[in-house]
Formats: sequence, C-alpha cells, structure tokens
Amino acid sequence: MVQQTQLGVSWVGCGSAHPAMVLSNTDLSQVVDTSDEWITTRTGIQQRYLAQGGESLSALAAQAGQAALEMAQVDATGVDLIILATSTPDDLFGSASQVQAALGASQAVAFDLTAACSGFVFALVTASQFIRTGAYRTVLVIGADMLSRWVDWTDRRTCILFGDGAGAVVLQASDRDRLLGFEMRSDGTMNDCLTLAYGSEPQTLMADKTVQQGTFQPITMNGKEVYRFAVKRVPEVIEKALFRGGLTAGDIDWLVLHQANQRILDAVADRMGIPSERVISNMARYGNTSAASIPIALDEAVRSGRIKAGDVIASSGFGAGLTWGAAIFEWG
Ligand code: UT7
Repeated sequence: MVQQTQLGVSWVGCGSAHPAMVLSNTDLSQVVDTSDEWITTRTGIQQRYLAQGGESLSALAAQAGQAALEMAQVDATGVDLIILATSTPDDLFGSASQVQAALGASQAVAFDLTAACSGFVFALVTASQFIRTGAYRTVLVIGADMLSRWVDWTDRRTCILFGDGAGAVVLQASDRDRLLGFEMRSDGTMNDCLTLAYGSEPQTLMADKTVQQGTFQPITMNGKEVYRFAVKRVPEVIEKALFRGGLTAGDIDWLVLHQANQRILDAVADRMGIPSERVISNMARYGNTSAASIPIALDEAVRSGRIKAGDVIASSGFGAGLTWGAAIFEWG
C-alpha cells in the first residue's frame, strides 16, 4: 500500500541502449548526395546507430529498461507500470507488453504512448500522475525508437538526421515531489510539417464493397518550419513549466532537450540565457533518436557524473503532431 505521504515522484534509475552498427556521415555520403561537412555544420551530427535485421524495438527498449532497473536496484517484479513511448513499435497493437515479458515484470501493466519526439516527456508526465494519485508506486518509463525503419533513404533532407536507440528511467513514489513543473502542448494544424502517415489503396472485397489497405509512408518533413517552431516554442514551454514550479531559468542546472539539431539546442539555450556548458548534447554520436533522445542523454550525463542528485533538470521534447512539452525535475 502506498502511504498517503508518499505522493511525490522521485527519479531512482536510468539506462540506455543502442544498436551496434554505426553509420558515419562519410558512409552516408555514399548513400545520398551529402557530405560530412554539410551534416556536421547544419546539425552537429557525426554518426548514428542503426538497427540491423533481427534487432527489435522491444528488445532494445527492454535492454534500456533493465539497465535503469539495475541502477535503481529494483527487481522487475516490483514494477507496477511500464510506459513505452515510441512511434516505431514492432507491433502496431503495441510493443510495451513484449518489453514487460522480456523484463519479467509480471506484476506491471504496460502500454505504448505515441507522441513522436515529445513522447518521453509526455510519458514522464503521464507516469507521474499515476504516482501522485497513489495508484502506482514504481513506474518504468522508456523512450525507444527505430526511425531507420521509416526514413526515406533516398531523401538527403531527412535521412541524415535519424538514428535508433532507447533510454529509460525508473520513477518511484516518495515523500518529496521532485517533478517541479510541466507543460504539454499540441498543434494539429501543423501536422503536415512532419509526417509518417498511413497510405492506402482500395482492395475490392466484392463487386460493390472495398476496404482500404496499405502501409505507413516514409517520413516527410518541412525542416525549416520545424526548426522555426522548435526555436520559438521550446523556450516558451520551458518557461511555462518553470513558472508552474515557482522557478526561473537561473534555477536550471542542466538543459536536456530532445536531440534534434545542435543549432536548435544552442538557440534555445541562448534565448534562455543558459550557458552552453549547462546544455547536455550527445547528438554527434546518436543523431535524432526521437522518443529515446532525452533519456539517452540523461543516462549518459548521470553515469558520467555530470548530473548529480539534487540537480535541477529542464527537459523538453518537440516534434511531430506537432507536439511539444517540458518537464522540470530534480534528479534523485
Ligand atoms: O525530431 C523532430 C524535429 N525535427 C527537427 O527539429 C528538424 C528541424 N530542422 C532542421 O534541423 C534543419 O531544417 C535541417 C537540418 C533539416 C536542414 O537544415 P537547413 O539549414 O534548414 O537546410 P535547408 O533545408 O534550408 O537546405 C539548405 C540547402 C538546400 O540547397 P539549396 O536549395 O540552398 O541549393 C538543400 O537542398 O542544403 C541542401 N541540403 C543538403 N545538402 C547536402 C539539404 N539536405 C542536404 C544534405 N546534404 N543532407
């Protein structure tokens, strides 16, 4: 039973995983008309990890989840809820249950949450509400994506950006609430700017009856529009989340943004007056791993000792939907 006093959220572990295969910018220049110089200058990305045949989204997610549980010293059977933020499940009915089975989290209910690159922040906030109400005590939140499955590998404007990976955190009920503030937003009027849309054709069942069947079409993106959106909306949503927590930008120890483009990270930090040494960036090695990018960056910063217990982290995800959101929390 959850004690009435334990309705706060604490962060007790994190983990991450990526496929073994590396695709460098130079490799990519053999696939499409691009160069290491263009990609590095425009995005900050130098390489990305890509899944190979036989590697599944759920296995990668489970690997990240396992690492997070080990850091938290929580047995899988002690997990009450698993939320898997992904847009690239192995199974359109959801991949969270496969992760639950792989981890042996027999007591946990598990479900997928889809909000593209905002997925991890939205999942973090969702998980926290279950803890705050006292419904669940231990929640595993995983962000995992394999956008390599859906990238148009002939489109140099998009294929240079994405990589595959998974990251996870374990949240637990605690006396003190370390989720200090959050804000989530959507704007479906801008949906066309970034899509992985279903495309179909009629299949005739009988003379006068058809059904629509097809598959999802490769990613399309209006890069300039999404760039403008991110640079404007991300500082706004972080400010709102800070306001809700009675905080200001000066209270932020670490900015852990969705790793979409180094120029976006720099512009957001600049607008908010946050020095560059307070901005966590690993996109040079990972590219944009969608829902996985924030927890992977967080995990690396925690394991390297940069982020320490008590540090205030401003995280913000943004992307398709369009969706965007921020969560301000104290690590530990
Ligand atoms: O996670 C979801 C969120 N997504 C994002 O946040 C993405 C946001 N957008 C961006 O990061 C940037 O818009 C991109 C990195 C995608 C593109 O950078 P850009 O500075 O906006 O470049 P651009 O699309 O304006 O293209 C500039 C030029 C064009 O040539 P022209 O028309 O000026 O002759 C492109 O054809 O660069 C050309 N170009 C390339 N050249 C070499 C576009 N892609 C490439 C490429 N290699 N890969």
